Amino acid sequence: MNIQDITNNFQKEIENAQDNNALESLRVKYLGRKGIVADLLNSLKNLPVEKKKQQGKEVNDLKKEIEEAIKEKTQFLVADSQSLEKEWFDISIPGFKHPRGHFHPRTIIMRQVETIFQSMGFSVVGGPELETDWYNFEALNIPKDHPARDMQDTFYVPPISEYSDSEDLVMRTHTSPMQVRYMEKNNPPLRIIVPGRVFRRESTDASHDYQFYQIEGLMVDKHISVANFRAVITEFFSRFFGQKVAVRLRPSYFPFTEPSFEIDISCVFCSQKGCRICAQGGWLEIAGAGMVNQKVFESSGYARNEWQGFAFGFGLDRLAMMKYKIDDIRLLNSGDLRFLRQF
Ligand code: FA5
Repeated sequence: MNIQDITNNFQKEIENAQDNNALESLRVKYLGRKGIVADLLNSLKNLPVEKKKQQGKEVNDLKKEIEEAIKEKTQFLVADSQSLEKEWFDISIPGFKHPRGHFHPRTIIMRQVETIFQSMGFSVVGGPELETDWYNFEALNIPKDHPARDMQDTFYVPPISEYSDSEDLVMRTHTSPMQVRYMEKNNPPLRIIVPGRVFRRESTDASHDYQFYQIEGLMVDKHISVANFRAVITEFFSRFFGQKVAVRLRPSYFPFTEPSFEIDISCVFCSQKGCRICAQGGWLEIAGAGMVNQKVFESSGYARNEWQGFAFGFGLDRLAMMKYKIDDIRLLNSGDLRFLRQF
């Protein structure tokens, strides 16, 4: 075998050697006392001087090459086994669970409310939180100097040129402005609810916040009566609370409805036996409502006395409090994870 063949064979063999034993066998085979290189060196002695010189150098180069290759591969195998050891992991260890996000209790309630009303043919619409004085008050029959303005303490906002040039702006104090905004663009018959955030400049307590959510409802057609309203709202609350709920209407006053009522529902906590939550009265106050004032139809561009409708507005946060037995409304805006993780 000539040196080139030996080199080729060695290279194939070292490539296949995958552990120290295989490398040691290679070393013995090529570099051992009775190995291939030793044989080659032995065969030199019979050669003429010139040939001996030349072949001797080639054999020595081969020997060096083999030594070098074995050393390198040995180092490679050591490094490889160390990194394998480092990368080792136990596939039988149980994994850890990534925390899963979930909805805010208010969002859960809002979705439930929307689903129930949608099943009764109501559309869900939204509107701006920064509102003009016109939509929030005047169009709803609450002129500038009207005492009814005091019913809702208001955050007034200086005019913003890109939004409106001269009009007075307010953070909307209720979702009722959407009644007019919607009727301006849509003709009866119509049925909508408007969930949304509202703002009032008032001090907070367990049942009042300065930023909370309302759901406005509006149904308009030729012959809508208080009886229709009572049926819709009774059906809604019974489905929402999953139990038969009685509804009581008490006379009240809102400039944008005539007549107006406060809506009470039978206490869902004590079935009207009397408890702390209903202050022993058996009823829970839950919303304002009434038959749409003809002046509101006029503000929206409808002809007077042509249409009838009911409107209502209830506090979404208060509904969430009732459903989940939350005793302080401020928890809903607190961002306190100990509270939020319960839902
Ligand atoms: C109104 O805001 C009327 N726009 C409701 C209405 C709509 C009447 C359509 C007639 C026709 P009121 O100010 O009472 O009404 O608020 C309605 C509901 O919002 C209350 O019943 C209550 O559930 C909730 N609410 C009022 N103030 C607060 C507050 N500070 N924090 C939390 N919820 C509140």
